[in-house]
Amino acid sequence: MTYEEKLGKISRKEISICIVGLGKMGLPIATVFTNAGFKVHGLDISEELIEQLNRGETIINEPFVSERLKEAIDNNLFHATTSTELALKGVSFVIFIIPVLTSDDGHADISILESTYNRVRKVAEDGIIYIQESTLPPGLTSGPIKQLLESDDKVSGIDFGLVFAPERTFSGRAVMDIEENYPKIVGGDTENATIAAKILYEQVCRKGVIKMSSATAAEAVKTFKGAYRDANIAIANELAILADIYGVDVLEVIEAANTEPFSHIHRPGIGVGGHCIPVYPRFLIALAKDFNYKANLLDISRNINDGMVNYAVSSIEKNIDKWEDVLVLGLAYRGGVKEYRLSPSLRLVPQLRMKGINVNVIDPLYSADEIDALFGKGTGKNWDINEMKNYNIIVIVTEHKEFNELNELLKNSDKKIIFDGRYVLDKNPDHTILQPGRLFVNKQN
Ligand SMILES: NC(=O)c1ccc[n+]([C@@H]2O[C@H](COP(=O)([O-])OP(=O)(O)OC[C@H]3O[C@@H](n4cnc5c(N)ncnc54)[C@H](O)[C@@H]3O)[C@@H](O)[C@H]2O)c1
Repeated sequence: MTYEEKLGKISRKEISICIVGLGKMGLPIATVFTNAGFKVHGLDISEELIEQLNRGETIINEPFVSERLKEAIDNNLFHATTSTELALKGVSFVIFIIPVLTSDDGHADISILESTYNRVRKVAEDGIIYIQESTLPPGLTSGPIKQLLESDDKVSGIDFGLVFAPERTFSGRAVMDIEENYPKIVGGDTENATIAAKILYEQVCRKGVIKMSSATAAEAVKTFKGAYRDANIAIANELAILADIYGVDVLEVIEAANTEPFSHIHRPGIGVGGHCIPVYPRFLIALAKDFNYKANLLDISRNINDGMVNYAVSSIEKNIDKWEDVLVLGLAYRGGVKEYRLSPSLRLVPQLRMKGINVNVIDPLYSADEIDALFGKGTGKNWDINEMKNYNIIVIVTEHKEFNELNELLKNSDKKIIFDGRYVLDKNPDHTILQPGRLFVNKQN
């Protein structure tokens, strides 16, 4: 088959795709392609997950995914397996969306990725195009991954294609983000591979595809955006601390400042969590260090954002005579999302315990047992907003909509001191409400 014939088959959706990693992002991607009419083979290492998916069941809480999975199975467009040979049979593209870990020094740990590419390349047919979607620091796709794929005398651009195409989604709206909200970024190791990937994603991304000049440029798009967000949040956090010194309301000031088109100050808060924003600057900082450059701004931004937990603790300390039991509201790093990776709670709880304080955690998305598994027996409480009545000191870490109920409950409760790290609470003169950058506002009558 000529290259042009292959491109024609892609645009007519006459090809099959293998998705490696069927997790929170991999499964939505799979269903985006099946929904467009592509045949998808899913590959994952979890036997339990594979059995579940082949029964048409998923625990992933993403709109559209569950119903599309069932539909795809009924229409014979999706099948999942743990067998690399079966998953690779007859496919034209392999999309990798498995986690990339971070080593202690901040570098991306691609050992799992490398061993997976290694298994896949042994059974891949000639002409296959590998697409790397999970985030990598600039240089890794056309560096170590290409090196690995070329180690059996195959050449990128001739025997296989290699492309970086970052996943740009927000948990909770993955399908919409892929299909409707953003253009897809693709950057290949060679022009032919980039064009083939561009045509593939054009079939599913209504905002189109941005073709980058290289895989490294595409890698930079995702990591630079993460670094920008982290630094911007750090600015907001530092301004919140200054606002507390100056006695102004940081949210009022930011809103007014952002009416100029050049100002995009983000929202302050108790810290940044998740897979992406706190991780990608570390990739860049570590990479810069390899080239004897200190990425000062990214480094300081990380420290400021992680330091907001200290700000919470010291703000409470300034307003109490002595510590009592503390209730932490929220384990998840973001409201409405059952995910705690690098959540500020993971730093807050040990920090309070170092002071000898008894700490309990409650989160509408987690059971007491799930919380205990992280912090030790007796830490977690099953979700009941009334639990807050048993504590005089409370810290709000997550913007869960369920926490809005606190406003009503506080109207009839004993005086409390609450560090509200997500601006959930209304002003309430009967309680000491501490919000970063709004200490002054809550003291006003
Ligand atoms: N979750 C997000 O909000 C988000 C957003 C944008 C990008 N991403 C990117 O997506 C990547 C994956 O994130 P996720 O949230 O889907 O992770 P996840 O943990 O939900 O899923 C990963 C899946 O990969 C499987 N897996 C692990 N090793 C494997 C291997 N060697 N072979 C086959 N399958 C394997 C796991 O069993 C799991 O099912 C992240 O590393 C990140 O770069 C995630």
